[in-house]
Amino acid sequence: MKVDVRTICCIGAGYVGGPSMAVMADKCPHIQFNVVDMNPERIESWNSNKLEELPIYEPGLSQIIERCRGKNLHFSCDVKGNISKADMIFISVNTPTKKRGLGAGQASDLKWIEACSRQIADHAKGHTIVVEKSTLPVKTALTIKSILEAYIIKGKNNKTNVKSFSILSNPEFLAEGTAINDLINPDRILIGGDDQESINSLMDIYINWISADKILTTDIWSSELSKLIANAFLAQRISSINSISALCENTEANINDVAKAVGMDSRIGEHFLNSGPGFGGSCFKKDISNLIYICNHYGLYEVASYWEQVISINEWQQKRIISTIVEKLYGTISEKKITILGFSFKSNTNDTRESPAINICKNLLEEGCYLSIYDPKVDSNQILKDLKKENINYEKQIDNSKQIETHNSVLESVVNTDAIVILTDWEEFYDLNLREIYELMRPPCWIFDTRNVINVEAAKSYGFNIWKLGNGKFK
Ligand code: UDX
Ligand code: ADP
Repeated sequence: MKVDVRTICCIGAGYVGGPSMAVMADKCPHIQFNVVDMNPERIESWNSNKLEELPIYEPGLSQIIERCRGKNLHFSCDVKGNISKADMIFISVNTPTKKRGLGAGQASDLKWIEACSRQIADHAKGHTIVVEKSTLPVKTALTIKSILEAYIIKGKNNKTNVKSFSILSNPEFLAEGTAINDLINPDRILIGGDDQESINSLMDIYINWISADKILTTDIWSSELSKLIANAFLAQRISSINSISALCENTEANINDVAKAVGMDSRIGEHFLNSGPGFGGSCFKKDISNLIYICNHYGLYEVASYWEQVISINEWQQKRIISTIVEKLYGTISEKKITILGFSFKSNTNDTRESPAINICKNLLEEGCYLSIYDPKVDSNQILKDLKKENINYEKQIDNSKQIETHNSVLESVVNTDAIVILTDWEEFYDLNLREIYELMRPPCWIFDTRNVINVEAAKSYGFNIWKLGNGKFK
């Protein structure tokens, strides 16, 4: 059924829901956008008058919030009320990997999707278009559909509220840190579904700022699968270049030069070839794990093990960074103090989900060292929470906060430390005051640069010892 969409509800005010609705609201002043979340603190931060208190750091986001909030963009905890009012509902809730039970470590936990579907089934009125926005395992739409249909069948006796639904998949391809630009200038918009009129209703929204040739429509399964595969291919490039970074260190080659030479082949392309401490973020590991789970489910064991390697190399890259640090610091870091520069999984975001920094820091703490951590945007409580030691069943947490200090600047974080480990490519780390830093540290002043941000010649001239990932001359 074609719907003239006037009111939209987005369930989930996170890294996907928040920025994507903000950009849509900015581009569609004729539509009301209600972003709802069950977490009252999150909603309070979205409504804060102090724009620096928004729950998500994303360049360009606060300006849009300032323009639209209170006009056609609203943040609230009233999930039920806003579902009832909506012509179209975006589902942008989290779908983390299951920690226990069937498919633990690989399958996505769909309990939030299920809860959300039940809320929609209960409170929607008339015809509603339900759009999957979160990255979901293939065939999630089927789960949503079956819940909604079950409620419709049950509600058939109640003739006062006749409802119907169409389900679309509209995966979001934004990358954190560049979300606003990605949303304004996407490479493509993908809409999957079998009801052409509902697809047209969603296209009518995007057409306000995106040209029609960039809008691709498919069946719902192809759309869901394309999102997983795009992420799997991107992650595969990173694992490929990271595997070669180790080879460069052994052969005295330089990974930057190799990446440049390889990337200049137009068939390969120059993007996504920066070697580093491995990919992080909420999508890559989760999506590849999902892919592996689906392949195993269909008995495609060779395909599953092919993709498993992408995750293995990612974990191996972190392990070898940890052993390099210990080895260079005379084989022990017990009681030593190490500065960690950067904790988010990439620059320009405060998101730490699956950040390589978590695994690397936890392993360094296990070796008995002290950590002095600085990140320009990650909150210190978040750092302490991420580094809490959990026992094998995730039941108990062991307090290791005495081993961790967090700081508000690079200079504060390097006082009396033995080494600096650069884990995130924040802009300010490209321009460190190396002379001053050297004075504040304890010799032999090591820098472990996993993000290729340090000018090695300059660092050497001040007296630093330096290890640079993928560079055979500084190993
Ligand atoms: C990713 C996809 O890019 C996006 O399309 C999808 O919607 C969600 O998942 P995101 O996780 O936000 O986005 O960030 P991305 O820029 O892809 O980076 C992921 C990780 O890969 C980061 O840890 C980053 O540091 C790392 N990375 C990226 C590299 O190590 N080298 C590179 O060349 C690029
Ligand atoms: P993403 O990166 O996918 O946006 P986030 O964790 O940042 O993931 O955001 C998802 C949001 O969805 C969280 O703020 C969470 O509180 C919210 N959420 C999850 N389930 C529901 C639900 N049933 N109703 C309302 N909000 C929900």
